[in-house]
Amino acid sequence: MKFSKQEQPLSSEPHRILVTGGAGFIGSNFVHHWCKQYPDDRVVVLDALTYAGNRNNLAELEGLQNFRFVQGDICDRVLVDTLLQEEAIDTVAHFAAESHVDRSILGPDAFIRTNVVGTFTLLESFRHHWERRNRPENARFLHVSTDEVYGSLDPDDHPFTETTPYAPNSPYSASKAGSDHLARAYYHTYGLPTIITNCSNNYGPYHFPEKLIPLTCINVLLGKALPIYGDGQNIRDWLYVGDHCRALDAVIHRGVPSETYNIGGNNEVKNIDLVHMLCELMNELAPHLPVHPSQKLITFVKDRPGHDRRYAIDATKAKTELGWTPAETLERGLRQTIEWYLAHRDWWQPLLSEEYQAYYRQVYA
Ligand code: NAD
Ligand code: TYD
Repeated sequence: MKFSKQEQPLSSEPHRILVTGGAGFIGSNFVHHWCKQYPDDRVVVLDALTYAGNRNNLAELEGLQNFRFVQGDICDRVLVDTLLQEEAIDTVAHFAAESHVDRSILGPDAFIRTNVVGTFTLLESFRHHWERRNRPENARFLHVSTDEVYGSLDPDDHPFTETTPYAPNSPYSASKAGSDHLARAYYHTYGLPTIITNCSNNYGPYHFPEKLIPLTCINVLLGKALPIYGDGQNIRDWLYVGDHCRALDAVIHRGVPSETYNIGGNNEVKNIDLVHMLCELMNELAPHLPVHPSQKLITFVKDRPGHDRRYAIDATKAKTELGWTPAETLERGLRQTIEWYLAHRDWWQPLLSEEYQAYYRQVYA
């Protein structure tokens, strides 16, 4: 059996699902999850293949009859209209975004374009498609968002709930907040069955090297400095990407249109402690490290401007209403992640391109 009783989908009717950003980190994990769990569903991926998108993430699925990959931009209204219609899409799972805070500080333009205008384009196209098909009951627009829209917590604050007021602090989180408001408004104004999820920091396979966990693993393997912003006391709530995908599955099958669900890992850790954990595990799992023990590489660097101090998610609603809880402990999830990076050098090495090095110099110079 694939699901516990509480996790059974409401309907076994096959879906026809459009996954935007399906060649990125979470999107590709979600596509793998979906194709495995629901082989009868049609899965169409729309992805622009920006620096963060990688068609290799989906290589194992390319031959499947029910799978299609389309390279294209979510801001391209004609393309989105055509895809929704010719594939008779009933469900949109919207992951496509510019997703890295440091890049949003260097250049916010692309964040406004993709995250705000792109989400608007998808909503507007899906609304017309849904109205033309006489508003089918099973239609869903899942908008995947972030806990960063809620701003920063003090040490003693209660974790974010679905009613925490929005207070985004970076161009990235502000653009995601804008897109959340659009998804909400499309339900309230037009009745479009949108659902929003706000999740904490994900980690796992296919994570682009610029983010803290893959960056640390890769730099340890290369014997490069491990940059910690500021005093390293910032806290994040780490969620294993496989747990996140199970939560999104539950939201699509059992979530209520117009609702928001917070999804978190119950793993609040200070950055410096996380990097120490990673170093310990790398010392144990990776043979012949250039610098041993790898903790010697830890280097405190200039803080990120506007760096949020603490994020934490209260995922009670997802537990009580969807029957979802995260299954991975941080230790086990990090171990699996490190093992994946050790076994997939051929995946991450080509991503350290000249373009990536130029970005790296800009942030860490
Ligand atoms: P990612 O950067 O790894 O992937 C984004 C994908 O979107 C890439 O494949 C990219 O090519 C594609 N894309 C970008 N612009 C596009 C456009 N204009 N048209 C079509 N495709 C485009 O991001 P991720 O980490 O997988 O995040 C997925 C979603 O989850 C995002 O909406 C992000 O805001 C949200 N989120 C991520 C995290 C996290 O920890 N990674 C946490 C909370 C929320
Ligand atoms: P990141 O993975 O960029 O996710 P987010 O900013 O969306 O939370 O960063 C996670 C935390 O790690 C965040 O507090 C910033 C910090 N960080 C560093 O200390 N050094 C780094 O090189 C990076 C990329 C992040």
